[in-house]
Amino acid sequence: MTEKQYQDKISSLERQLKALQNSSQKECEQHNKILTQQSKMAAMGEMIGNIAHQWRQPLMELSSILINTEAKIRIQENISNDEILEVINRSNHILKYMSNTIDDFRNFFAKDKEKTQFKISDQIKRTVNILSSTLDNKNIKVNIILKHNPTIYGYKNEYSQVLINIISNAKDVLVQRGIKNGLIEVKVYEQEGLCITEVLDNGGGISEKYIDDIFKPFMTFEKKDGTGIGLFMAKLIVENNMNGTLSASNEQNGAKFFITLPVY
Ligand SMILES: Nc1ncnc2c1ncn2[C@@H]1O[C@H](COP(=O)(O)OP(=O)(O)O)[C@@H](O)[C@H]1O
Ligand SMILES: [Mg+2]
Repeated sequence: MTEKQYQDKISSLERQLKALQNSSQKECEQHNKILTQQSKMAAMGEMIGNIAHQWRQPLMELSSILINTEAKIRIQENISNDEILEVINRSNHILKYMSNTIDDFRNFFAKDKEKTQFKISDQIKRTVNILSSTLDNKNIKVNIILKHNPTIYGYKNEYSQVLINIISNAKDVLVQRGIKNGLIEVKVYEQEGLCITEVLDNGGGISEKYIDDIFKPFMTFEKKDGTGIGLFMAKLIVENNMNGTLSASNEQNGAKFFITLPVY
């Protein structure tokens, strides 16, 4: 082979390699796009479920106000303007609450446009509040323990989404395993410049044979309609977007998840 032929061969091989790299990178990007889309769909499903729960109570109230008013009119055949105004007032109040619920959820799932400073405790309380009707409904208690209250600089909605994923998983396990006194503990403290959020449940823990795989995509275990995207996405958010780490371990009574983030 002449020097020239040799060079040509090498360039041709380089071109092939480049093309191969490009196509595998494209494939990878495509793959990630699909995953993000699926995780959005899963989050959307959760959100609708949560709104449904949060609306059940006010819908019942509204319906009972209307039934009472109707009964009154049919029986007495007269009702004062003041009474009607009172009914309207109470109904408006309930409708406002329902409308606020939607706004709350919408804001939560809107993408953060920019990083901001936020107090970790505020965001935890807001997140637990969002989930409270679902958790109440299943008789699951949530304890928030704040040893410190660090400020974080980053995407606060994304932090919430991570918490929602972890708490929802704990809820799933507690319900599935029929645990009576379901308890989820969210603990925050500062250690060596890191803000640590621990989420502990008493659901019996992660099955040992799956514990190494729970953060991998599409890995769902012992669930009827799991997607296996929740923890994968949560880890991606914490480690790629927030400069932190996400890990899990088993404790005596259940699973414990650790989120570490740099303190601002
Ligand atoms: N708190 C927990 N206790 C026990 N197992 C858990 C807990 N959280 C997650 N897991 C396990 O990790 C798996 C992966 O979770 P995730 O990625 O959110 O997917 P999915 O919830 O759709 O199954 C779950 O299927 C479950 O088996
Ligand atoms: Mg999940």
